[in-house]
Amino acid sequence: MRAFFVTASGTEVGKTVVACLLCRQLSAAGTRVRAVKPVITGFADDAPGGTDTALLLDAQGLDATPGAIAEASPWRFRAALSPDMAARREGRSIDFRRLVDFCRGLRDGAEDVLLIEGLGGVLVPLTEKETVADWIAALGVPALLVTGSYLGTLSHTLTAAEALKARGVPLAAVIVSESADSPVPLAETVETLERFVTPVFALPRLNDTEEWRAAPDLTGALTPVS
Ligand SMILES: Nc1ncnc2c1ncn2[C@@H]1O[C@H](COP(=O)(O)OP(=O)(O)OP(=O)(O)O)[C@@H](O)[C@H]1O
Ligand SMILES: [Mg+2]
Repeated sequence: MRAFFVTASGTEVGKTVVACLLCRQLSAAGTRVRAVKPVITGFADDAPGGTDTALLLDAQGLDATPGAIAEASPWRFRAALSPDMAARREGRSIDFRRLVDFCRGLRDGAEDVLLIEGLGGVLVPLTEKETVADWIAALGVPALLVTGSYLGTLSHTLTAAEALKARGVPLAAVIVSESADSPVPLAETVETLERFVTPVFALPRLNDTEEWRAAPDLTGALTPVS
């Protein structure tokens, strides 16, 4: 199974949108895909609707049953904060080794592609010492770096790419998901980033179901990287 970690320059830029789109595009091409969000914050077990976990399950044609949620997102926290802060609110903490082992175990599944959605940006603290970037590095899988097209994204994107590189994480692709009301043209953002990192894919703002159906094919971002 080929595994990819979907991370980002920050929160709310489009990781779930990209992961869901990839699930649908891969499935349509006959590729079996599993997508998970092992750690999620701002999650209430009695109201899973609309959460990243529920959206990812839906993109795989699965219902958000308690069992499916527990399998996709074993580490769920109520507070909409960074994971270490949210865990602390509940007197809990994330066992980094167990998290890494859980993700490694998923690679033994029967699917062709595994997508692991992180949370927030690459350097969000998960534990007292480890960040999301450390998690990706421990897994040894390539990253899909999702970013926006808002003013300021160039530095955020390249900083995130540098943080991954510093830990030896291979960058499979950067995907620029067009930000709402961005004053910066998407194409120009992509062209600028391409001078520093490659490959870069553009995902325009998708406003309705028709646009989602006609979204650009992102499966080319899932090529092996050394
Ligand atoms: N290309 C796009 N077209 C339309 N809406 C988008 C696009 N990219 C992101 N969005 C919207 O922006 C919001 C944030 O996107 P998304 O939930 O995918 O971000 P995220 O990086 O997964 O955030 P989190 O850090 O909370 O996991 C959502 O409402 C999503 O639908
Ligand atoms: Mg998300």
